[in-house]
Amino acid sequence: MTDHKKIIIAIDGFSSSGKSTMAKALARRIGYRYVDTGAMYRAVTLFAMRAGLIAPDGTVNADALSSRLPEIEISFALMPDGSQHTILNGEDVEAEIRGMEVSNNVSPVAAVAAVRRDLVVKQQAFGKERGIVMDGRDIGTTVFPDAELKIFLDAPAECRAERRVKELLAKGQQVGYEEVLANVKSRDHIDQTREESPLRRAADAIGLDNSSMTIPQQDAWLMERFAEAVNRAESSDAEN
Ligand code: DC
Repeated sequence: MTDHKKIIIAIDGFSSSGKSTMAKALARRIGYRYVDTGAMYRAVTLFAMRAGLIAPDGTVNADALSSRLPEIEISFALMPDGSQHTILNGEDVEAEIRGMEVSNNVSPVAAVAAVRRDLVVKQQAFGKERGIVMDGRDIGTTVFPDAELKIFLDAPAECRAERRVKELLAKGQQVGYEEVLANVKSRDHIDQTREESPLRRAADAIGLDNSSMTIPQQDAWLMERFAEAVNRAESSDAEN
C-alpha cells in the first residue's frame, strides 16, 4: 500500500493487552510513526518519583507536579535495532520506566488532570501530519476522536498478567504472578474510574479480544482493518 492517504490509527485498551506489540508491528509494516503514550505517562511518573512528589503511600502531590510540567521534555529515540526508547530531559529512561516501581505509581499520576492535558497536547502535535499509530487509553476518545481507524483491545486480566510476567522475566526482572495480577487489576480500576478521560471504548472503535490469537494472526487481522480504513478514507475524500 504505497501512496495511500495517510490516516491516524488509535489503539486503545487495558494494561498489557498487547497494544504496543500490535501497534509497533503495524507501524513498521506500513511505514508510519509509532507513539507509545503509556511511555509518556511513565516518564512523567519517573520525573515525579525522582522529584519526591509521590508519598510512600502512593499519593501524588498534584499541585507541585502540575507546576513543574513545563520542566518535562519527552521524546523518542530510534535505536539501531529498530526499537524506540523513551527520552526524559535528554536521558534514556526506557529500562527504568518499565520497572515495577514506575508501574505501581503510574495510574495515580495519569489521573492528574493537568498531566493529562499537557500530554494530550503533545500527543496531538505528534499526529499533526497524520501517518501515525498511537497506542494508549484515550486515543480514540480524547486525543484523536477523528482517527480513521480505532481499535479497542481487551483480554482477561489473568491472561494479561501472565504476558506481563513473561515480559518482565525476559528483561531480567524477578516478579511474581500474584504481584503482577494485582498491579494489572488495580491499574484497570484506576484507569476506568478516573474523572479525566477514563479508559473506555469509543463508540466507533472495533473491539478485539486477542487472548486466543497468535501474534501473526493479530497482525494479519490488523492489516485487514487498516486496508479497509484507508479505502473508507479515500472513498469519502472522492465523494467530497
Ligand atoms: O500502556 P502502559 O501500561 O504503558 O500505560 C501506563 C499507564 O499510563 C497506565 O496505567 C494508564 C496510563 N495511560 C493513560 O492513562 N492514558 C494513555 N493514553 C496511556 C497510558
